[in-house]
Amino acid sequence: MCGIAGYIGYRDAYPIIINGLKRLEYRGYDSAGLILYDKETIKLVKTKGKVSDLEEKISDEISVSGKIGFGHTRWATHGVPNDVNSHPHYSESENLVIIHNGIIENYDTIKQVLIKRGYTFKSDTDTEVLINLIEEIKNKENVKLGKAVQLALNEVVGAYAITVFDKTKPDEFVVARLGSPIAIGIGKDNKEFFVASDASPFIEYTKNAIYLEDGEMAIIKIGREVRVRNIKSDSLVNPDVLELKLSLEQIEKGGYDHFMLKEIYEQPKAITDTYRGRMLVNEGLIKMAGIDDNLQKFTTANRIIIVACGTSWHAGLVAEYLFEDIARIPVEVEYGSEFRYRNPIITDKDIVIAISQSGETADTLAAIKMAKEKGAFVFGVCNVVGSSIARESDAGAYTHAGPEIGVASTKAFTTQITVLTLIALKLGLAKGSISKSAYHTYLQEMELIPKKVESLLAINDKVEKIGSIYKNATNFLYLGRGFNFPVALEGALKLKEISYIHAEGYPAAEMKHGPIALIDENMPIVVIATNKGHYEKVVSNIQEIKSRNGKIIAVVTEGDTTVKGIADHIIEIPETEEALTPLLTTIPLQLLSYHIAVMLGKNVDQPRNLAKSVTVE
Ligand code: F6R
Repeated sequence: MCGIAGYIGYRDAYPIIINGLKRLEYRGYDSAGLILYDKETIKLVKTKGKVSDLEEKISDEISVSGKIGFGHTRWATHGVPNDVNSHPHYSESENLVIIHNGIIENYDTIKQVLIKRGYTFKSDTDTEVLINLIEEIKNKENVKLGKAVQLALNEVVGAYAITVFDKTKPDEFVVARLGSPIAIGIGKDNKEFFVASDASPFIEYTKNAIYLEDGEMAIIKIGREVRVRNIKSDSLVNPDVLELKLSLEQIEKGGYDHFMLKEIYEQPKAITDTYRGRMLVNEGLIKMAGIDDNLQKFTTANRIIIVACGTSWHAGLVAEYLFEDIARIPVEVEYGSEFRYRNPIITDKDIVIAISQSGETADTLAAIKMAKEKGAFVFGVCNVVGSSIARESDAGAYTHAGPEIGVASTKAFTTQITVLTLIALKLGLAKGSISKSAYHTYLQEMELIPKKVESLLAINDKVEKIGSIYKNATNFLYLGRGFNFPVALEGALKLKEISYIHAEGYPAAEMKHGPIALIDENMPIVVIATNKGHYEKVVSNIQEIKSRNGKIIAVVTEGDTTVKGIADHIIEIPETEEALTPLLTTIPLQLLSYHIAVMLGKNVDQPRNLAKSVTVE
């Protein structure tokens, strides 16, 4: 949500900012803007719409010279998406300018005070209130920009990642973070710096970066080391300078039409990367430091509570089946947003597993903070290394899926399931709730999954054809049971978020308790009917759909003959253990949504209203 890309140094800032904003488009946004500082003047352009609209506006309005500047993509919270509400925002004097990700919750109270002191406001945003508060403090207390920012931030309630520039001190930026990420790229000999929401805007310029922690601010001044301090305590912090592993290739489309398709096709490699070095099939070992170091906690836990949102929540539901079946540990799966406000009963015998691709989802993050306060041990399953949830967790395991840029989660889901399967197996063996031979069979089968995923990608054309038949349907139903009930939910979510077709996922047996009323000859129903999971029961459900003339797209195990005779379309998955089928059944459902959305001309990688990283609640 919202993106920041800035530069201060000796190069032309414009291409760095504009390309940076393009790389951050995946985060989701509805308007864009930037400033360039040149010849003692701030040039500010902003617009509702895409970064390409901003480029067009810039070419009409300003010259793009300047070695200092920053840009922003805004996902509207306070104030509708329009040119005026877009960032950057000036202060009253127009000496200061700000970009901001997040929400200032007490902005209205501060605004009323500032209005009484003569400030005027052009926009409806909380951000314009913040920059005027900074200016008010700077003037009233007669302090430098950094101090003014610090004092202002101590007055606000909310979340932020900000970059502030002062025209009267044009060799520095002040940045700060609370609840929304900010990375500072450090150029050679401190001659140049980059600020961004993640490292993608500056990856070709430097591999050295500081990620601010929550509650920290930094003064970035050309020719000097970055100074980081704690906003509340005012103490200086010695920041870790990390060496970035990200490569340019990883964040480019690599010949695919969309990031989503690239990421679907990356799954064999992503799954392999996830278990590589952890799953040693010949030795019969699963090595995961975060579990090994806390094994007793896990094996004696009263229960595991999984917190997550969206697709990650679906991975959590798969994990519920895995942990209960294989490791015999009771599991509850919670939406971060509900859990955090529910006053749940948590003890120090509970383990909370947070699942998050971005590691920044505000509700999941708040949920684990609360769980920690109540004494739970928190284990994070994140993709983004060094993300807030990863840092907040007591221990964890990264999914190693590589950057996921398409807003619709694909490889994040299958790699989350991979990590969670390894944990379930490890705990199952440690607790003796799974036999050694079953454990070995799982490891051997797991090793074959990437090849099987590849074989499913090879039927892409067939799935596209099925999509072309149903692309104009207005409703879809997805049904599955057991391990594949969460896959039905995930299939429906994928379709609705990128094609805007209404879709619902249901446990197949629940169909009779409501959704069956929707079924007629216009309703496509995707049914997952693999051969081991309650197969006969699902076949009965398929018969019931058939009797009501619904159109059946069935995902079955290779060699199935029964469903073949009933369904309108068959998609076959290779045989595997029932618990591992979600890793396979998901693939054709991802492809189906992708093709339907493309055929409908939708913006697959950046669906309307959605953000990749949901950093506000
Ligand atoms: C769906 C999707 C979202 C995310 C959700 C949680 O395709 O991408 O539903 O799964 O916003 O995000 P993370 O996993 O980053 O916490």
